[in-house]
Amino acid sequence: MTQKLTATQKEYLRSQLQYDHNDDPPPPNTLAVHQIQHELIYSTVQEFAAKNEVHMLDVGCGWGDFSGKLDPLLKSYVGIEPSPVELGRFMRRPNRFLVRGVGEYMDFLKDNSRNFILLNSVLDHCFDWKRAWNNCLRVLAPGGLVIISMENSQKLIVRLKEKLGRPHVHEGHLEFFGYDDTQNFLQRDFTIKEARTIGFLYGMHAVTKRVPLPVGPLRLANRLVNGFFRVAAPAGGHIFFISAIRNGTPKDITRYAAPFRCPQCHADMAFGIQACRACGFTLPYGTPGYLDSVQLNADVKAALA
Ligand SMILES: C[S@@+](CC[C@H](N)C(=O)[O-])C[C@H]1O[C@@H](n2cnc3c(N)ncnc32)[C@H](O)[C@@H]1O
Ligand SMILES: [Zn+2]
Repeated sequence: MTQKLTATQKEYLRSQLQYDHNDDPPPPNTLAVHQIQHELIYSTVQEFAAKNEVHMLDVGCGWGDFSGKLDPLLKSYVGIEPSPVELGRFMRRPNRFLVRGVGEYMDFLKDNSRNFILLNSVLDHCFDWKRAWNNCLRVLAPGGLVIISMENSQKLIVRLKEKLGRPHVHEGHLEFFGYDDTQNFLQRDFTIKEARTIGFLYGMHAVTKRVPLPVGPLRLANRLVNGFFRVAAPAGGHIFFISAIRNGTPKDITRYAAPFRCPQCHADMAFGIQACRACGFTLPYGTPGYLDSVQLNADVKAALA
């Protein structure tokens, strides 16, 4: 099913279809906070992997940072990313399936076919996050793990600016999510495992843009300050991290091994085939080796023009 995009959505999607993380490299303090965020992701998946084979869906996978970082914990991996610039940098490994596409259109994946979904700094890049989230709900099996982490609209600096009558702009994004509202929408279908915010050295983002302080000591400083604010202002960090388990028990775990389906007739489909065996639907691929679902969707494709 397609959807007509508004002019704003279309323009935003156009920028994301050419996304390049090198356009805006993070200063050292932001990097230090991201490293702590990535450690939280790793340890959460590690704990999940101790009891489950992990079949991951990385929505907005970028250049594949987590495909590499989580590699020893993963049984299989599907990465979806709109930008061929990023996909071109993806390091290929066994059992990795790449799709050029967006979270809003995931017709090529079966229901309940993944047991871990990562949305790291992605929901606020979606042109229609509710649609992308509903797709995640369809694809994530009961008992599955979701991690949502991104910049936090409740961070102390935003609240301070609002008090001073200077509204904060979440530049380069259509949405700005908060620690509380994200937990609220998760609580309908999930049991929250861990929720916290990190990164309270606000001035240091700007300072380290000008003065390139080393990341290691900044990481340590952030850890110490995180410990204090975890008690003093738990919702106020720069980034929030939430992990949660989908309620219910998994039914058909054999789907994890074969998650793809024909986007038209929903028959089983092996990744890499040129046409659906059931209905003849043609599947386009781009180099290097990704299913190009952008070509399958008129509205997304229109944003390329
Ligand atoms: C800030 S980057 C995060 C990349 C990666 N998740 C990480 O943490 O390293 C945001 C990513 O979301 C992708 N993106 C933008 N719109 C999207 C959409 N509608 N669906 C899925 N991904 C999208 C961008 O192309 C970009 O790679
Ligand atoms: Zn078909």
